[in-house]
Amino acid sequence: MTDTQHLSSNTRTLLDDEAVIRRVFDHIDNKNTDIGSECWQEPVEHYQSQDHFDAELSALRKQFTIYCPSSALDGPGAYSARDVYGIPIVVVRSKEGTVNAFRNACRHRGVQVAEGCGHAKSFVCPYHAWTYGLDGSLRGVPHEHGFPDLDKSQRGLVPIKCKEENGLIFVCIDAQGATVENELLGNTVGLIPETHRLHETSSIELPANWKIVLESFLEGYHIRATHTNTFFPLQFDNLNVVEQFGRNSRLCFPYRAVEKLRNMPASQWNIDLSLTYVYHLFPNILISNHPGFKAVVVLEPIAVDRTKQTTYIVTAVGANDTDSLALVDSALAVVNAAIDEDRQVIMSGQRGLAANANEHLEFGLFESSIVHFHSTMKSLMPGKT
Ligand code: FES
Ligand SMILES: [Fe+2]
Repeated sequence: MTDTQHLSSNTRTLLDDEAVIRRVFDHIDNKNTDIGSECWQEPVEHYQSQDHFDAELSALRKQFTIYCPSSALDGPGAYSARDVYGIPIVVVRSKEGTVNAFRNACRHRGVQVAEGCGHAKSFVCPYHAWTYGLDGSLRGVPHEHGFPDLDKSQRGLVPIKCKEENGLIFVCIDAQGATVENELLGNTVGLIPETHRLHETSSIELPANWKIVLESFLEGYHIRATHTNTFFPLQFDNLNVVEQFGRNSRLCFPYRAVEKLRNMPASQWNIDLSLTYVYHLFPNILISNHPGFKAVVVLEPIAVDRTKQTTYIVTAVGANDTDSLALVDSALAVVNAAIDEDRQVIMSGQRGLAANANEHLEFGLFESSIVHFHSTMKSLMPGKT
């Protein structure tokens, strides 16, 4: 079953793979691409202002987001600590196999009880060794007689709303105001098949506002100019099928090899070597398919001019299948080289903000998923100009 068939009952309006490929053929034949209905001007100030950044984070804390694929927490005690919208959290798989999330701060004097990722039987604070169970409960306090009024039952790690569905782990920092949980959950059905295991995780901090990083994933207008020797030999420049669903988008980047399908019956069309879908799951998640693997990218805003980009690569290829893994790694090398090219323009775009040349950045008809994103962000911050 294809990605799109899995999604059909939840995403309402996405085309199936055959319709996407027919639209790609039409674009190739007519030297065309999907275009949006409006252009957009986003004020440069929205990429530079601390006040605007703070307002974004406080709006985003009310949204459900994807923290990582389920396969990144493999087995009881597996944990991962990272910031989500400026809040340090730790996500951990319990002994029973369920997943919990907590604010990553000791209830003594606030030191973070977990760092990075790994496996633990408990969390021991590095400062004075208060010890917490995987369920967040405060289990041990050295020299406890120094805290005569401490009620340990009330001083567990502070929980955060967390769900595991569709092979993904979701969190919401400020769940009280959250309203779109089901939309995000429903729109991820089938994106990460159960057969996929974690192949690798990588993380990098970029000196750029998170929206500049995000925008680089959301259009195919830069394939020839930026990805001259990576994607462009394999894919078309500015030839995409672009769809919006809810607050999200899906972009189809066809490979030149899609042409081979013209001579085959549609019933035999296989998308794996013909096109890449990039799902943008609002606000900061990208899930894409590539030959032999899928990538889940999380763009975490660290500061107004810093973003942490964490990439989880998942695959159905077995850990001992060295021949197939070599193919995965060679496809991954192309993607990583292209991501390096994106980083150069992302960092340059950030530096260009300081040139004071522009009052706003301009997004055209080929960049409709970026327009959709900015328009959604604006709707979440009604008080901001
Ligand atoms: S701050 Fe954690 S034990 Fe003191
Ligand atoms: Fe790119």
